[in-house]
Amino acid sequence: MVKTKISLKSLKIKAGKEMLQAKDLKELDVIFKQYLGDNGELTLILRSLKDMPKVKKAKIGKEANELKNFLNIKFSEAAAALKEKAQKEAELKEWFDITAPGKKAVVGHLHPLTLVRRKVEDIFESMGFSIIEGPEMETEWYNFDALNIPKDHPARDLWDTFYLKNGFLLRTHTSPVQIRYMEKNQPPLRIIAPGRVFRHEATDSSHEMNFYQVEGLMIGKDISVANAKAIIQEFFQKFFGKSAEIRLRPSYFPFVEPGFEVDMKRGSGWMEMAGAGMVHPNVLKNAGLNPKEWQGFAFGVGMDRLAMMKYKIDDIRLFYGGDLRFLQQF
Ligand code: DAH
Repeated sequence: MVKTKISLKSLKIKAGKEMLQAKDLKELDVIFKQYLGDNGELTLILRSLKDMPKVKKAKIGKEANELKNFLNIKFSEAAAALKEKAQKEAELKEWFDITAPGKKAVVGHLHPLTLVRRKVEDIFESMGFSIIEGPEMETEWYNFDALNIPKDHPARDLWDTFYLKNGFLLRTHTSPVQIRYMEKNQPPLRIIAPGRVFRHEATDSSHEMNFYQVEGLMIGKDISVANAKAIIQEFFQKFFGKSAEIRLRPSYFPFVEPGFEVDMKRGSGWMEMAGAGMVHPNVLKNAGLNPKEWQGFAFGVGMDRLAMMKYKIDDIRLFYGGDLRFLQQF
């Protein structure tokens, strides 16, 4: 009897001490099992009660059960304290250094074709041109007939044009904006019309099924080829630099007469950059202007071509591929 009594007392002290030393919940659990687990020291004492004489059983039983309750309470207190400690430590881990450099936010930037369009617009605005937009979905009238392109012109070939089921088509060039603008505005006038155009074509390094053009139109009483050449040359020099050299080469477009191809000097040769010419009298008529009273020039430049020349890009498809390794270079 004396022995059990002493062992209960020392058990209480030992367990209390060990509990306080537990560094975390896992250690605490091991200690708990050592006393109150299936074969725990106190469990064994409680289990041995049934073999004890009655008097002893009552006394020891009471004390042992009190100790059991006491330890249970102490364990849950210790567990709560350890849980709180663990939580605080986790919070501390979240602490961050406010002096550390921040993460850079990824900022987008302008597409090379947008850069080119803006530059083109700036240059022509500085020469008194207004920027006008037209629809990408057009009628045959504006895209072809009004521009003096007869029904059997190759540009009307099914393979060049996306005809839509609703009777419209996707414009194949920005020239229809000329007609739309002249219908509503009296000369003198000076506009450019940048925008997207579409061709029903197989793609390769210099052809895309959609690309960008900028149309130009200047109409007045006595606007001449000399004015056309001066304006176009000024544009190319402002865009590519003072050393840019251009030439006009006779060519054919149904909506101009005479018509030219604009070439730019490149190394030892010439590179075709634009079409231009004096607006055909039929075109003026179709837009409601009197060709005996008004005359002027028009031109059309491929903006993809401008961008390819400016940035030395050899494949037009790169503009539309969305590959960041390409786009991030601008
Ligand atoms: N619209 C023509 C094309 O897409 C380009 C062009 C040529 C426009 C001559 C013009 C011009 O205004 O005068 O190929």
